[in-house]
Amino acid sequence: SPAELLLGEWVNDLKSHVVINSTEGATIRGLYQTIVGASKKKWVPLIGFVNPTNKDSPTFVFGIQWEDIGAASCTGFVGQYFHTDRGEELRTNWLLRRSSNRKDDWQATLVGVNIFKRVSTRQT
Ligand code: BTN
Repeated sequence: SPAELLLGEWVNDLKSHVVINSTEGATIRGLYQTIVGASKKKWVPLIGFVNPTNKDSPTFVFGIQWEDIGAASCTGFVGQYFHTDRGEELRTNWLLRRSSNRKDDWQATLVGVNIFKRVSTRQT
């Protein structure tokens, strides 16, 4: 299934690692390790969905809450899988919501781009 294209380990431009461990229908589950931000080198659970409509290049969304590394923030990633001449890529945009008080709402949200490249071979 298109969701299975995401299975395996990926690394982004910040050297963060993502492992997508399982798919169940359109649902994906995995672990995220970031070396930037609150604390380092812990694997934090993620959950998301793949839209299988574009079978060769599906879109997806996944979310992470960072309690396990001592942060009060959440990040949502949305992206698309591509198989290009440079290999497989997950091209994503993310929003990070920091915990803030209401008067600091204007500075509570970070936005960015991350490109993930496959590190391990896809499971079949
Ligand atoms: C935090 O510091 O609030 C928790 C860690 C956040 C890490 C962010 S999520 C978006 C960006 N992409 C990464 O791989 N790491 C940072």
